[in-house]
Amino acid sequence: MLTCQALGGVDLLRRVTTAFRHERAQQAPRGCEMIIDVNPQPDESIFVRACRRQPVSHTPVWFMRQAGRSLPEYRAARAGTSMLDACRTPELITEFTLQPMRRYAVDAAIFFSDIVVPLRAVGVGVDIRPGVGPVVEQPIRATGDLQRLRALEPDDVPFVTEAVRSVVGELDGKPLIGFAGGPFTLASYLIDGGPSKSFDTTKSLMYGDPPLWNALLARLADITISFLKIQVAAGAAAVQLFDSWAGVVSSDDYRRSVLPHSKRIFDELAATGVPRIHFGVGTGELLGLMGEAGADVVGVDWRVPLDEAVRRVEPGKALQGNLDPAILLAPWEVIERRAIGVLEAGRTAEGHVFNLGHGVLPQTDPGVLARLTDLVHSASARLPH
Ligand code: CP3
Repeated sequence: MLTCQALGGVDLLRRVTTAFRHERAQQAPRGCEMIIDVNPQPDESIFVRACRRQPVSHTPVWFMRQAGRSLPEYRAARAGTSMLDACRTPELITEFTLQPMRRYAVDAAIFFSDIVVPLRAVGVGVDIRPGVGPVVEQPIRATGDLQRLRALEPDDVPFVTEAVRSVVGELDGKPLIGFAGGPFTLASYLIDGGPSKSFDTTKSLMYGDPPLWNALLARLADITISFLKIQVAAGAAAVQLFDSWAGVVSSDDYRRSVLPHSKRIFDELAATGVPRIHFGVGTGELLGLMGEAGADVVGVDWRVPLDEAVRRVEPGKALQGNLDPAILLAPWEVIERRAIGVLEAGRTAEGHVFNLGHGVLPQTDPGVLARLTDLVHSASARLPH
């Protein structure tokens, strides 16, 4: 029951609307395809509800790398501007974040930026080379190099605050996901100096010089905490920590050398109250630990079926994933069958956010992503709850 006491006018209206929506959802006949998620407040959106493991009328969906090179309008608007310059320009950030929202009925936007943006903002010489990825001028190899990683202040990234506010103002109640790179992944770019296949240099520092490793990851965690808090303060409704390459370490080493730093990040974000998502590639052996680090939602790549991921993650977590992005290059019948398989496996989780197992491939047809979004909504509404 709702009472009028203790509720302000706007809040009351919001709650009544939510209660009404919820009632309609309850009354909707099984198999009904009606999608009831019209202009909710971000913290009551279907995406945030699924992250919190609350009942939803259908499965929410968004796609990692839904913005970017798969969209012709992105390629056109980015022409002549470097990636890092684009990430410092509020108008471009806003435009690129919103482009996929105009095409797809996805349930969340992801802030257009890059994991190296906060590093660059504190003065690290880093660039993003087209077709290569982040390249660091002077890799970090010794204790003396750490002084290049000072703390991040809101004044270092005014364009982030401005762009988050502007995006949130345009999203009509849909949630914006803020993000940052995870400690292992950021460290790997700083130590290796660029993208790596084997992460030999990074891992040898992790094994061979734990004090330097821990000092480096502690500084990266500080920067990340600050970067995520800035995004939440400006209006992000959830955060995702992309520790994309953490899957190259064993679970013992992850527990010893990475988890304490990620845990501190998630602990510091707890007070914000926004859902915290933790994702990495090839992290099948680490899923339990990535949940233990303090995430509300564990992102799963395509290698581990979601019903198996449920067994690997402690109770009290939602899951996100996990269609192989390469499946989107196959005929629609294959995509449809596989997507429904993901939805069915996702039903075994306490909460499920549909996503790909990693980012959208640049050669993906945006029409396929639009169709997949609608399929996730309609097929999940028909599945038994
Ligand atoms: O839509 C979204 O998901 C938001 C945008 C986003 C970008 N980078 C934009 C980007 C996100 C979430 C990231 C995070 C990121 N950046 C990660 C973690 C996610 C993951 O993919 O695992 C990592 C490892 C990076 C580092 C990085 N930046 C790589 C590997 C690359 C690709 C290099 C290439 O050209 O192939 C980048 C560049 C980058 N970041 C692009 C975009 C849209 C492409 C640059 C361009 O458009 O020219």
